[in-house]
Amino acid sequence: MSNKISEEIYKVGVYDNIIDLFEGHYCVPDGITYNSYLLKGEKNIVIDTVDKNYINQWLHNINDLLNTRVVDYLIIQHMEPDHSAGVEKFLEAYPNAKIIGNIFTFNMLKQYFPEKNFDNNIMLISDNQEIIIGDRDIKFIFAPMVHWPEVFFTYDKKSKTLFSADAFGRFGKDDNSEWTDEARRYYIGIVAKYGTQVQSALGKISQLDIKRVCPLHGPILDDNLEKYVHIYDLWSKYLPESKGVVIAYTSVYGHTKQSVELLAEELRDKNIKCEIFDMCRCDKSIAVASAFKYSNLVIATTTYNMDIFPEMRDFVESLVLRNYQNRNVAIIENGTWAPNAKNVIIALLKNSPNLNISGNSVTIKSSMTEDNKQQIRNLAEEIAKQVL
Ligand SMILES: Cc1cc2nc3c(=O)[nH]c(=O)nc-3n(C[C@H](O)[C@H](O)[C@H](O)COP(=O)(O)O)c2cc1C
Repeated sequence: MSNKISEEIYKVGVYDNIIDLFEGHYCVPDGITYNSYLLKGEKNIVIDTVDKNYINQWLHNINDLLNTRVVDYLIIQHMEPDHSAGVEKFLEAYPNAKIIGNIFTFNMLKQYFPEKNFDNNIMLISDNQEIIIGDRDIKFIFAPMVHWPEVFFTYDKKSKTLFSADAFGRFGKDDNSEWTDEARRYYIGIVAKYGTQVQSALGKISQLDIKRVCPLHGPILDDNLEKYVHIYDLWSKYLPESKGVVIAYTSVYGHTKQSVELLAEELRDKNIKCEIFDMCRCDKSIAVASAFKYSNLVIATTTYNMDIFPEMRDFVESLVLRNYQNRNVAIIENGTWAPNAKNVIIALLKNSPNLNISGNSVTIKSSMTEDNKQQIRNLAEEIAKQVL
């Protein structure tokens, strides 16, 4: 695969397909890329480094393209170690290079490399600053808390390229495979809490004439950019992408699961899109991302020592932590002697704004009665009215 993006811009990043968990948390069955870019010109610029396991490969990628020339500038858009681990070795290879960052960047740099003194190399930039580097006009656009405080984007006027740090990133290879699902799982998992800050960054970049977006993970985006901006706008406003239902459930002995199957059958009979997640047996990050994708959520769970099943608590808390809002929610609870799951869920969701919690919640005592079955059908009717 060619590393050339344009006449003067090259990919020098790496692909990690042996990682077990990204950010110590997320399964990445198709691996992850740590993107880094080389801008060749009168002055050579590298944007971001890579994870600690790939520094030599990355330096080799750069060197291969430069022959005997040197790198003059390293721009550190993001200090998360999967992008900044290579700074020290970079300076060993290019000791006279300037490293560009903001005040937060350099504080973090000291924390991550306490033994090293970077004072002779640093070049401090401010928000919206434009600088001429060789034959390029480069603008820095701060994007604080997307998703760390030091983050900024870099806009190269000459090529109309936006380097967007972790924004617009995606799990998996740098290839043409479907973008949205794994980009959503990345965004909802890692960035979703900071919708306001993403909105502010989107506002800033809307002023720019952008031909391509180069994120720090996954493919470069250079077609139909409106599509990606639109979807980021929805995600950061916490609005659903699709009408449809996620049913998240737990069930110890299978009776709650039966109620979920009945509900799913009723919904599918009405041609309503429906995704079901057994919270003890699924990848939670997919369930959470899907809950954000759709307009409706049904939580079906067992009472467990007067609380709810631990995996369901974790799921609901994961939604709340990411500012879950603007959705229709319904609850099916089960309990053998004192069902209490509904109360617990409502309490967990109490600070989530603009949730329409259905009055048609269902309480099952151990196994479904005929009344419960009718309540499930009523719930399906209510959901159909909201969705169709
Ligand atoms: C460890 C454990 C604790 C439970 N605690 C409660 C409880 O506090 N209150 C209650 O009504 N039912 C309790 N139950 C019963 C579950 O809610 C029970 O699994 C459910 O009613 C049957 O649904 P299921 O077949 O989907 O598991 C508990 C079950 C287990 C295994």
